[in-house]
Amino acid sequence: AKNKNNQSVWSSRIKKKKNSFFDKIGSSINVDKRLYKEDINCSLVHVDMLFKQKIISFKVKNKIFFGLNKIKNEIIKKKYIFKAEDEDIHMSIERRLHEIIGDDAGYIHTGRSRNDQVVTDLKVWMKKSTNEIIDSLKSLQKTFLKLAEKNVYSIMPGFTHLKNAQPISLSHYLTAYIEVFERDKKKFKDNLRSLNENPLGVAALSGTSFNLDRNFTTKKLNFLKPTRNSIDTVSDRDFVVDFIYAASMCSMHISRLSEELIIWNSDAFELIELNDKLVTGSSIMPQKKNPDSLEYLRGQTGIIYGNLVSMLTILKGLPLTYFKDLQDDKKIIFETFDNLKTCILLLNEILRNIKFNKKKMAELAETGFLTATDLADYIVRKLNYPFRKSYNITAKLVNYCDQNKKSFKDLKIKEIKKIEPKLNEDVLEIFDLKRSVDSKKSLGGTSFDNIKKMLKNYKKELKWKY
Ligand code: ARG
Repeated sequence: AKNKNNQSVWSSRIKKKKNSFFDKIGSSINVDKRLYKEDINCSLVHVDMLFKQKIISFKVKNKIFFGLNKIKNEIIKKKYIFKAEDEDIHMSIERRLHEIIGDDAGYIHTGRSRNDQVVTDLKVWMKKSTNEIIDSLKSLQKTFLKLAEKNVYSIMPGFTHLKNAQPISLSHYLTAYIEVFERDKKKFKDNLRSLNENPLGVAALSGTSFNLDRNFTTKKLNFLKPTRNSIDTVSDRDFVVDFIYAASMCSMHISRLSEELIIWNSDAFELIELNDKLVTGSSIMPQKKNPDSLEYLRGQTGIIYGNLVSMLTILKGLPLTYFKDLQDDKKIIFETFDNLKTCILLLNEILRNIKFNKKKMAELAETGFLTATDLADYIVRKLNYPFRKSYNITAKLVNYCDQNKKSFKDLKIKEIKKIEPKLNEDVLEIFDLKRSVDSKKSLGGTSFDNIKKMLKNYKKELKWKY
């Protein structure tokens, strides 16, 4: 910030020419101007508190209020000039305030440092943004729920190691992602606890001799309680790491799903079709429809992971209290937030427009002996054999089918009896996929009844819980 003679506020101490090389590099205004609303609101509350505590006069308070509101309007109307020489948003606003109301602007920084100011602004911004992420995840879950409701009886192969394993309801698969994103939501929500501690009023590091009322600013700024230790408060960026960690996990989940859908979309699988507005063509191969949108999502995860490592690494060398190193937390947070928010919205758009190739799913489920486990279980129950013995009998049948190019459904009871004479015609029912799916009635299993119950619960939760 500049004084009347267009010099920095610290020009009384530091003698240097205008526009030094480092001043340009060290300026964060282009990044932290995004915090202007938070900065002005926090200043209004701080000044209100200074007046209530009789630290500043009514007249000064009103002048500062007038100036800050004018600045807010100027910024909203895009009439405000952010100057690189201002270093950051805090100095920029103080500079402009001085231009508008004169020397009384100088009262604004009583009992305050940029060290507590910046963390307060950032926490307020992050609370809002965290809630935005939670809301967008909730809307993503609703999309999964809608798709799941339509697909209770759509049968597909469940895979392990990407090999056909056991038949499942497509609905069951889709609701699995409701759980995944529920865990992400929980992480973001848990983070709100530390974001709800108000840093304002700890000043540079040791507190202040002014009789501030930190409980007042806490209430006015919608925090739950003030932070307890001034030294820790200006040092702490754990809440930043927590946010990026939650974002990394969420992004990892998005990436796993994207990879899965890329595989399903491949010509080898053909289990889904993406909407034309979400694919890209090739510059040379006229037939191509590439799943670029999903690949984009998978790629962004790398950037968010990078941000997590950046922040952890920035912090690892810092003793207590404030260092310039911390300034880049905002760039990292903003990029992480923008990136994740966009990814969640894009994923939602992809899913809202997805087409499941149910015919292909059903066909694929008929290959690869998906009911082998059902057969082994059946033999255990029917013949009272130990599971391992019935497992071996089933394996023999699979081998027999393999050698004779048959599926279970092609088997005649005669052929089965050659391997296990005690089995009779009933066994043939076991190879029915619907029956298999519906038999998995264990808690959390894929039976149709279970799925329908799950859907009811998810519906209730997504509507009423938040
Ligand atoms: N622009 C700074 C940041 O974002 C504000 C805090 C500056 N404090 C200081 N002591 N230099 O971290």
